[in-house]
Amino acid sequence: MEDIAQILNSPDLNKAQILRLLSTENPIEIEQLRQKARELTLQNCSEKVYLRGLIEFSNYCVNDCYYCGIRKSNYKISRYFLTKDEILQCANFALKSGYGSIVLQSGERRDRKFIDFLCKTIEKIKKETKSENLPDGLGITLCVGEQSPETYKKFFSAGAHRYLLRIETTNKELFKQIHPKKVSFERRMECLYAIKEAGFQLGTGVMIGLPNQTLENLADDLIFFRKIDADMIGMGPYIVHKDTPMQKYSKYFYNNKRKIYQLALKMISIARIYLKNVNIASTTALQALYPFGREEGLRYGANVIMPQITPISVRKNYILYDGKPCIDEFANDCLNCIAKRIELIGQKVGYNEYGDSPHFKEKAEKNVYKK
Ligand code: 5AD
Repeated sequence: MEDIAQILNSPDLNKAQILRLLSTENPIEIEQLRQKARELTLQNCSEKVYLRGLIEFSNYCVNDCYYCGIRKSNYKISRYFLTKDEILQCANFALKSGYGSIVLQSGERRDRKFIDFLCKTIEKIKKETKSENLPDGLGITLCVGEQSPETYKKFFSAGAHRYLLRIETTNKELFKQIHPKKVSFERRMECLYAIKEAGFQLGTGVMIGLPNQTLENLADDLIFFRKIDADMIGMGPYIVHKDTPMQKYSKYFYNNKRKIYQLALKMISIARIYLKNVNIASTTALQALYPFGREEGLRYGANVIMPQITPISVRKNYILYDGKPCIDEFANDCLNCIAKRIELIGQKVGYNEYGDSPHFKEKAEKNVYKK
């Protein structure tokens, strides 16, 4: 077996080496992996952790994904749609708190009314959140699923500049097992290309620890992130939700919780080592598995956190998986708590900046140079 130090010192990783890193359960090796990832974060990104205020503005969804708590067939939750003013209030809270950016996330809808509403909301936020530090207003990331290429362009023209769409898994068979027929792998792929084409910084990612997912699948996922030239990565552990068809895997999930958590942290470190200058989010799902999971994500090479700023009254209706934290706190508490938590692990918060992906900036500069 190849020595871990040797792998970590090689200029690039091949699939066998990625697999070797993914499969280690030796605490000393995991610590070496973590340290290398952290070193590369400081070298390729910055010492700062960037905050994106997460606004879950609607839980209506046309899809019925087998893992997700807000799937169309979950009749146990009440459906909500925040008004433009409510969203703006959240955005202003983010601005006041020094977050440079927000994420607008919702269940999937592709109807005209939804698209127009979102464009107008984006325009309004951009106009009304201009400040000395952010002359163009807050940075806006969208996470509203599969749309047509024209719609992506509209969202970009309205002023959003980053888009997150997870591939969920790059294994077609596994993708089929966790999605209804209407959600196709091919279409998801086309959407990812259309998002880039529209001009967005592209974020993608996968769920880690899905039933039947192998380490080789995860290695392929990492290789895919490079192939699609992603600027941002958002990955997290798969967590069972009791009101979904995949609750039949509860036993599997609870028996493997610790392993899945460890695997998610290793994936973050390997993504950092393999992709170097991308932004990597430490997702809330990590915190659902372990109270300090998100801070651990930062220690393992992530550099972005998305604090919850959705109004308290609707948070309980946006639960994608069981055990989601911060559903009954005040957003303000989240802010104070998050800054303290980040300082506790000896890292710094990047206030009042977009904190864009260095990978995207580098590509943009190369293009200017070519022209
Ligand atoms: N466990 C973990 N992540 C989930 N997501 C949805 N349901 C779950 C779950 N049960 C993730 C998906 C989606 C993102 C918004 O939330 O990866 O892309």
